[in-house]
Amino acid sequence: MLPSQSDLDTSSTYGTSSSKRTKHVTRQTLLEYKQRGQRFSCLTAYDATMAQIFDEAGIDLLLVGDSVANVVQGHETTIPVTLDEIIYHTKAVMRGVRRAMVVADMPFMSYQISPEEAFRNAGRLMKEAGASAVKLEGGRRVLEIVAHISDSGIPVMGHLGLTPQSIHQFGSYRTRGTDKHEAEQIFRDARDLERAGCFAIVLEKIPATLARQITETLTIPTIGIGAGVHCDGQILVYTDMLGITNDFQPRFVRRYDVLRERILDAVSRYISDVRSAAFPSEEESY
Ligand code: KIV
Repeated sequence: MLPSQSDLDTSSTYGTSSSKRTKHVTRQTLLEYKQRGQRFSCLTAYDATMAQIFDEAGIDLLLVGDSVANVVQGHETTIPVTLDEIIYHTKAVMRGVRRAMVVADMPFMSYQISPEEAFRNAGRLMKEAGASAVKLEGGRRVLEIVAHISDSGIPVMGHLGLTPQSIHQFGSYRTRGTDKHEAEQIFRDARDLERAGCFAIVLEKIPATLARQITETLTIPTIGIGAGVHCDGQILVYTDMLGITNDFQPRFVRRYDVLRERILDAVSRYISDVRSAAFPSEEESY
């Protein structure tokens, strides 16, 4: 069910009547969803065309994820993507949306060095790219950073469980929080991130029972990816969910289509029509 206009945040304090983004989802909207038990949906997006389609379908939140490194740039990990590249993709996504909240990922090395540098870089994602919030990974070690960015007026989304920027430290993409010690740490981190000022937390690849415990304890929304049904919202990487990627099909991804096959078929037919001079026809010519 789409929210009514009154569910969404209203226009800015100052007069920008020409803006196409007067009624859009904000952190407050997500909090209200949680308070009334209404689940919300999120996807990644990296360009204006897909962002426009997802927005038209009624998606609540689009994340310009550092997964752009894998999906668009063809890297093995999320580590190589730069802040300038995330700014470029966020600007494109912003041009496509009317209603969805847009969150920009802070790439590896853009927030770990010092709270001041993290704030400067988060500020670029807001000021240059137009994002409504930023996301960063980690628990204990980022609390001071989260507090500094959020106290300075920038909404911060946390990310716990499997945090892909730490892949070289973890050594694998296995499920997190399966043993008692790790589960307790993730739970503590979630509570501390809320206290530090996060407005929402992504929980990636952790047991559903742990995600449920966190979701029921926190007042801010949780957003699951491989974290079961009890989270307040869900997020997927859109190329996985639409079946565009072929070689990545973990258990938590539901493929709502297999666009890869449909694209292969369409492009093969185009190639064959060009070869046989069946395209373009007279009607398609001037
Ligand atoms: O970068 C990304 O796409 C993400 C989501 C998987 C949560 O962090």
